Amino acid sequence: MNVLVVGGGGREHAIAHALSCNSSVSLYSVMGQRNPGIDKLSKKVLIRKETDVGAVVKFAEHEKIDYAVIGPEAPLEAGIVDALLTSGILSFGPTKTAARLETNKEFCRMMMSEHEIAGCPMYRVFHDTKSAEEFIKSHDENFAIKPIGLTGGKGVKIMGEHLDKKEAVSYIGNLKGQVVIEELLVGEEFTLQAFVDGSTLIPMPLVQDHKRAFEGDTGPNTGGMGSYSMPDHLLPFVNDSERRTAFAIMKDTMHAFEEMGEPYRGVLYGQFMNTKKGPMLIEFNARFGDPEAMNVLTLLSSDFFEIIEAVCQGDLKPGKVSFSNEATVCKYLVPEGYPENPKTGDELIIRDNEKAILYYANIEERENRFYTMSSRTLAFVGRGKTLEEAHEVAEKAALDVKGKVRYRHDIGTQCLIDRRLKHMRELNNV
Ligand code: AMP
Ligand code: GLY
Repeated sequence: MNVLVVGGGGREHAIAHALSCNSSVSLYSVMGQRNPGIDKLSKKVLIRKETDVGAVVKFAEHEKIDYAVIGPEAPLEAGIVDALLTSGILSFGPTKTAARLETNKEFCRMMMSEHEIAGCPMYRVFHDTKSAEEFIKSHDENFAIKPIGLTGGKGVKIMGEHLDKKEAVSYIGNLKGQVVIEELLVGEEFTLQAFVDGSTLIPMPLVQDHKRAFEGDTGPNTGGMGSYSMPDHLLPFVNDSERRTAFAIMKDTMHAFEEMGEPYRGVLYGQFMNTKKGPMLIEFNARFGDPEAMNVLTLLSSDFFEIIEAVCQGDLKPGKVSFSNEATVCKYLVPEGYPENPKTGDELIIRDNEKAILYYANIEERENRFYTMSSRTLAFVGRGKTLEEAHEVAEKAALDVKGKVRYRHDIGTQCLIDRRLKHMRELNNV
């Protein structure tokens, strides 16, 4: 089977690796920058922007691709799945219309309201600067301000944290009033991803990502600095009943797409805030999370390609998907100065590490030497019977890399988890 992976980050390296575990798969790939990890696994690579739909389809037709797996959101928004399907190539990822769940925050909230899906915070949608500004000026409370369209995870601003009222007004002006303004949710965040074939939804282990650049959840938002998951597939501050609530929100969302006559296929990613009222939906993504894909794909004990095949053919069965009961910790190494002023072109010395899994991301390989680029560089995943074991593996591997990169030591530590548990206890007054 010829399988095409679209995208060139750490997430796509994990996808490519998981696919290549099936010996009947010949891997092809398209990416904007050469990812050395995916490159080594691929029979043929096309270096091209993933949003260049015409070029990707031409490549896929020429290489007689059977299935395409789409990693990032930008090609979904550009309609890559629709175009591949038109050429008879089955694709793992939603159509452009269904991907609006991620690419258009107005669509997401309106759909939740229209289909009476639980977990939706109070929100208002604006299309002009004046009314959005007036709304902010006439309220005392703080809000989350979200650009309607895609911003690579860096466009949401939280009043009281990133912006005061005056700055919020000017931010809205910069966005020309095209914003969703939402009630601020207070709690702890978690990610639930699920495989979806249009009418069946199978959950993956819960993961917690860390968006802030620096230790202790400080500094600017990033694409995600690292993530962990627990052996019981829950999180220390999310119990099974809360997980089921989140899953029901995602199931209702899948059914809403069925009702709309636009079946959703691929990964449905729910970012939730566990609040004192239970899980509320922060946002949906129409793809695997990056880094969260690296946690769940490390644990996947069934054949990934068979899942892809089943999803694309609308034939997903719960027995097809299983995950091992271990903990994982994923740490992204990023260039010094990331995300605001990343230092690029610095050489890295990466030692072989037998225990940790290495996924390359935005890194340049020249004559067997590695150099930083402007985005997240590479990730290590540690797995183990306990979180502590998994953490030690990832941390050791990360520590061994020499060069101008940094990472968050605290991701996956008990100390950070204790802080989250304390926060939840305070919220629930226990
Ligand atoms: P998003 O791009 O929608 O994932 O938002 C980025 C980050 O902003 C989230 O991970 C949350 O930390 C925060 N956020 C988004 N919406 C809200 C909200 N309604 N209340 C509190 N925090 C939010
Ligand atoms: N880790 C967050 C995302 O992939 O959007």
